Amino acid sequence: MEDFFYVTTPIYYVNDVPHIGHAYTTVAADILARFNRQMGNAVFFLTGTDEHGQKVLKAASDAGLSPREHTDKLCVNFENLWTKLDITNNAFIRTTDAGHIEIVQELLQRLYDKGEIVKRRYEGWYCTHDERFWTDKDVKDRNCPDCGRPVENIEEENYFFLMSKYHDALVRHIKDNPGYIMPESRRNEVLGFLRSNALGDLCVSRPSQRLSWGVPMPFDKNYVTYVWFDALINYYSATRYKSADMKDFWPASVHIVGKDILTTHAVFWSAMLMALGMPLPKRLFAHGWWTTKGQKMSKSLGNAVDPFDIIERYGADALRYFLFREVTFGLDGDFSEGALIGRINTDLANDLGNLVSRSFAMLTKYYNGNIPTPDAVEPELKRLAEGILSKLNGHLDELAFNKALDEIWTLVTYLNKYIDTNKPWVLAKSNETGGRLRTVIYSLLEGIRFVSLYLYPFMPKSMCMLYNHLTQRDISNIKLPQAAKWGLLEKDITIHAMEQLFPRIEPDTKAPQPSAAKPKKDEVPMTTMANVIDIIDITDFAKVKLKTARVLTAEAVKGSNKLIRLTVDSGEERQIVAGIGKHYQPEELVGKTVVIVANLKPAKLMGVESQGMVLAASDSEGGLTLITVERDIAAGAQVK
Ligand code: ME8
Repeated sequence: MEDFFYVTTPIYYVNDVPHIGHAYTTVAADILARFNRQMGNAVFFLTGTDEHGQKVLKAASDAGLSPREHTDKLCVNFENLWTKLDITNNAFIRTTDAGHIEIVQELLQRLYDKGEIVKRRYEGWYCTHDERFWTDKDVKDRNCPDCGRPVENIEEENYFFLMSKYHDALVRHIKDNPGYIMPESRRNEVLGFLRSNALGDLCVSRPSQRLSWGVPMPFDKNYVTYVWFDALINYYSATRYKSADMKDFWPASVHIVGKDILTTHAVFWSAMLMALGMPLPKRLFAHGWWTTKGQKMSKSLGNAVDPFDIIERYGADALRYFLFREVTFGLDGDFSEGALIGRINTDLANDLGNLVSRSFAMLTKYYNGNIPTPDAVEPELKRLAEGILSKLNGHLDELAFNKALDEIWTLVTYLNKYIDTNKPWVLAKSNETGGRLRTVIYSLLEGIRFVSLYLYPFMPKSMCMLYNHLTQRDISNIKLPQAAKWGLLEKDITIHAMEQLFPRIEPDTKAPQPSAAKPKKDEVPMTTMANVIDIIDITDFAKVKLKTARVLTAEAVKGSNKLIRLTVDSGEERQIVAGIGKHYQPEELVGKTVVIVANLKPAKLMGVESQGMVLAASDSEGGLTLITVERDIAAGAQVK
């Protein structure tokens, strides 16, 4: 990646509230911006709102507001969403900013003076909704080929940008620069379009008596500027007026857009820049479409997913992760809460969350939270952890977010296996291997430090917490080329177990529920086998599979003073909720070998799944003690 990195999102129309699609593009840009900052590059990340034109004017009049009042009100929705999503844009541009308008007029004047813009009488089919003209051959049954609404035949004088001149130069530029339009399928589409269509000239004005809400043409006050011509210039104008520091950022490193607006960028914007004699952006990336139940998301269909609601219920990091893990950037994807919950539970709670909580619990148990000095470096783990950086760099340069996540996950998976194969709880028992235990625990935590650094651009809030917990430093200042070196985790500092980063989510706990369906507070199956009065046959008893299980982690279930959530090793890892909170502190449970009912049908307690039952004895005085084993025995041993 280069030293200057300038990334943009489309500027969104303020005719509506933002939905998950807008969040998608902006988070993509944020991931790249954060990663580039981590790489030590100077970054300018721009987003904003597109505030002129017919659509916005109509939305304002529908709301009974002036266009200015309306845009002031709606642009706040976008700014608020970016705050909630931890978006680190350096500037927020509004096309109604005086600074922007001035530069649009300057560029129009420059093109007019060069003879690149001319006035012509024109007759064509006009779609008011899309604010564009169509030719006879485009229009079927007098309906707009894009939105399907009726078009009007209009004859009027207008200003035209002589775009047709740039047809050949544009084809050459796209062919000579294979990375200019990505993904490749979209590049081929644009080339195909240019092969079969001679580029026309572009009408860049609208008579102000028909549409007054726009940038006045500097050379003819009877006209305003076509909204796209005004909007595209934002990418350049921001570098001129948003801050003096940003003047060197043009050309952009990458414009990220949805596939719906690739043509305006690949064709209009490229040709405008050629006519102005300005450098073209280095890359245009057109991503795919999020649908719901296979349908395009739109407010009129009532199926637009509200990002505020999703963030409220699942957190910004989970949403950010899901959007980029689930679907290859460039392809379409269908949004479902079930898939989101699946990702949270499998990847975040199980793979990542358990890795972290197990490692921290072992650090607490074996070293009182004091990071031990390792005896040796684990060469394979070091190679894997350090090697991910150059792969991340390559994948993120191509906006292959899910490949980047795949790479990071090889480390998460390796570390989980590393625990299982090294069995620190066995090492802890053997005096001769004391040094080995130090190496294993240190290596785990050092591996987690790498994971937190690499995942930070994707999940900034939780990775910031995790990194801070491990190192007592602020991750946002850390540069990867220096920090992604094995062995930098400081020894001899004391850290404490931390809260579950990503608690598991049961599908129905996040959906609004009728109150009757709520689990009863502290409803616990008895964890004791006392009071069994009926005589049973040996075959009945044989149905109950009892096993030994070693407690790996333990934490109180939020909102309950009785329930403790345990993860145990019973030959396999499982989660059990036990109603023993009044008798035991979570910390004293870690490392104990208990007895569990291993073949009990899973049940939910306060919304948390319990995959078994821990046995305890209780007496009539309210005393309770866990059933443990008298001598050491492997986890998962049968109890008969
Ligand atoms: O087009 N899936 O603004 P806009 C994925 N103002 N991305 C989606 C999406 C979906 N279902 N829906 C919207 C405009 N997007 C112009 C842009 S730029 C100079 C002017 C995202 O509010 C995607 O990035 O209609 C798409 O290109 C953009 O929002 C369109 O936003």
